[in-house]
Amino acid sequence: MRIGVITSGGDAPGMNAAIRAVVRAALSYGDQVFGIFDGYKGLVEGKIQEFTRKDVSEILNRGGTILGTARLPEFAYEQVRDLAVKQLKKNDIDALICIGGDGTYTGALRLSEMGVKCVCIPGTIDNDIASTDYTIGFSTALNTACEAIDRLRDTSSSHQRCSIIEVMGRHCPDLALYSGICCGAEYIVTSQTGLDKEKLLMDLKKNRLQGRRHAIVVISENITDVYSLAKEIENYSGYECRATILGYIQRGGCPTPEDRFLASRLGVYAVDLIHQQIYGVAVGVHENCLRYLSLSDALAEPNNPDESLEALLTKIQ
Ligand code: F6P
Repeated sequence: MRIGVITSGGDAPGMNAAIRAVVRAALSYGDQVFGIFDGYKGLVEGKIQEFTRKDVSEILNRGGTILGTARLPEFAYEQVRDLAVKQLKKNDIDALICIGGDGTYTGALRLSEMGVKCVCIPGTIDNDIASTDYTIGFSTALNTACEAIDRLRDTSSSHQRCSIIEVMGRHCPDLALYSGICCGAEYIVTSQTGLDKEKLLMDLKKNRLQGRRHAIVVISENITDVYSLAKEIENYSGYECRATILGYIQRGGCPTPEDRFLASRLGVYAVDLIHQQIYGVAVGVHENCLRYLSLSDALAEPNNPDESLEALLTKIQ
């Protein structure tokens, strides 16, 4: 077979490990593998190159994606996708493995509807793909966020300050929730909890009056302007307050063993499915077992909040 592999949307640590697994697994079947550069944009432009085993050596531990990536909102238009389909036909590509988040999945679903044989692999730091327990990149981003929060704790405790740390995740609470729990944050604010500003201010004031030296507030992006919130906390609570937006630092870096392992498993599994003629699906892990769901089910499955974590928070915060 001739199999294409593409990374699309935001890059995530571990994408390279997934590319490597796809290429090696496909070669072990005797397939030819083609790297498609710069996401769906590169596909439309025909940036396609055959990959050998050597092309994916020394990348297992590297962050980012050697294929490059892009966001292409215009991929929503059929005329644009037509160009992609033409490029796949021109290069005789039988099946496409798409590594990315929900935007990538939506693109792959549309391509599937146009007759392209697609299998998707979850690669995003956000952990917002409900059809898998974990996405490739989440573990590394969580480690990066925890390391940063630990460092901020040192300085905020030394200065008796409150630190607000904004983490990524788009609209998914997981990065904030997990990093907040792992770093013992006093407050965790996510799309799930919402921001009860009045309560936060009052609680911080109470903490300050009780003589607590510092407070850590971990907050998801897209909730509020953290710099303004820091000013309000400073004006009301008695704490000096500093806000830090971790930003893109969370997207880079050497993938953790967990991400490399997950990426290797899912990459091989995606190729196995193609050889079983199973297409139009997304692979993932659920309760440590590999599984696949149709792309439409993978996109439709609700990202249910883990209530046990909420319960845990009420006992340890
Ligand atoms: O999806 C990954 C992610 O880093 C989100 O956490 C964030 O909201 C978004 O991408 C940022 O996107 P961009 O790279 O287009 O600025």
